[in-house]
Amino acid sequence: MTANGALFGRLTDADDERVELLRSVIDCMPSGVVVVDMDGDLVLYNAAARNALASRFVPLEVCWPDREVFDIEGTRRLEPSELPLARALQGEICDDVELTVRTKANKTAMLRVNARPMLQIARGTLWAVAVFQDIGEEIDAARHQRELERQLAQAQKMESLGQLASGIAHEINTPTQYISDNVRFLSDAFEAMARYQGEVAAVVADGAVEAEAAERLDGAREDAELEFYAEEVPAAIRQSLEGLDRVASIVRAMKEYAHPCDTKEPTDLDHVVKTTVAMSKNEYKYVADLELELAGDLPKVACVAGEISQVLLNLVVNAAHAIAEAGRERGVIRIRTSAVDDGVQLEVTDNGVGVPEHLSERIFDPFFTTKAVGKGTGQGLALAFDVVVRKHGGRLDVRSTQGEGSTFTVFVPRNAREAPAA
Ligand SMILES: Nc1ncnc2c1ncn2[C@@H]1O[C@H](COP(=O)(O)OP(=O)(O)OP(=O)(O)O)[C@@H](O)[C@H]1O
Ligand SMILES: [Mg+2]
Repeated sequence: MTANGALFGRLTDADDERVELLRSVIDCMPSGVVVVDMDGDLVLYNAAARNALASRFVPLEVCWPDREVFDIEGTRRLEPSELPLARALQGEICDDVELTVRTKANKTAMLRVNARPMLQIARGTLWAVAVFQDIGEEIDAARHQRELERQLAQAQKMESLGQLASGIAHEINTPTQYISDNVRFLSDAFEAMARYQGEVAAVVADGAVEAEAAERLDGAREDAELEFYAEEVPAAIRQSLEGLDRVASIVRAMKEYAHPCDTKEPTDLDHVVKTTVAMSKNEYKYVADLELELAGDLPKVACVAGEISQVLLNLVVNAAHAIAEAGRERGVIRIRTSAVDDGVQLEVTDNGVGVPEHLSERIFDPFFTTKAVGKGTGQGLALAFDVVVRKHGGRLDVRSTQGEGSTFTVFVPRNAREAPAA
């Protein structure tokens, strides 16, 4: 491009030296500069404008008339009359207008534009100049910041919920106990009344009651639908007691999980598995069935039960996500415990998407995630690794076949010793 070539279009009449000087100055500017004539056609632009809007293959002159301009969110296309340069040609001064530009060069740029009218007295016409900055990074950073703030707020909410959990568990525990006692009492009462009613029916059937009275009693029994109740009430009571048992076991698990204990105590890992599973049902029940293969006679291992429970919870949630991602109808998560050499092994197997081989090391890195923003933060396995390997001197391994599933193995030594910090 020559000094007076396309870049300066109609400025070719001007003094060459001044044009050259002006060209050098505006080409050095980091902001884009564009000048258009009354028809909106390019009169002048600088290198930054070309970089922002054109590509190596499509020069700015070509993609300028074809550009599409949207609001900064990229959702509403702006009318030609709303564009800053068009408004400047109407004599308006536009400051800090933010918009998104898409050009034929397949470029999308987020720009902050200032535009001014430029009276060309010698030519008897009006031009307009726009100076703009690319604010894509600024907007990305602001969005990222907002997302981090949202995650932080969520984490704080979860933390305070965690602190409240043991209190809530305690509060639920008390009414659950007296509801259970009352339902058991009602069960006994119903049995007694059913026995009495059976006796009355037998007396009536034996003909020991006057015919008129017998008829009345029969009618009353039918009206009260006693046969129906005799069948259904015991089932309803049994189900209520089962439900209450479930509530009680979840509450117990929550109390144990929330218990602020961080010392290693001899622990039965089968029990940890059972309580964790009771709490985490909601995390997997829509995508998978859970199968437990518990050893039943595990030696106790020295560990912080709450921490191992959290590790297991992370593994179960990951397994559920992997199954959901595989998109098959319903998956299976299997948790197996076994006594090995000098400790206890805990395996979580799923038939989800599996881990690609080249990622099998990286998945334990802090903040490594393949999940969408808001679904995963990449901290689950990093935390699990820290708890198992560093705090308990154990091992955490993965075996996986892509497309078939994964098995995560946690080994907790019987006499856990904290590994020295790396
Ligand atoms: N069972 C699994 N099957 C397939 N991939 C898995 C499994 N578990 C973990 N991964 C992979 O490892 C990555 C890291 O897991 P990690 O638990 O550390 O973080 P996350 O689940 O993405 O987020 P967070 O646990 O913080 O919510 C996941 O994003 C996923 O790609
Ligand atoms: Mg996870």
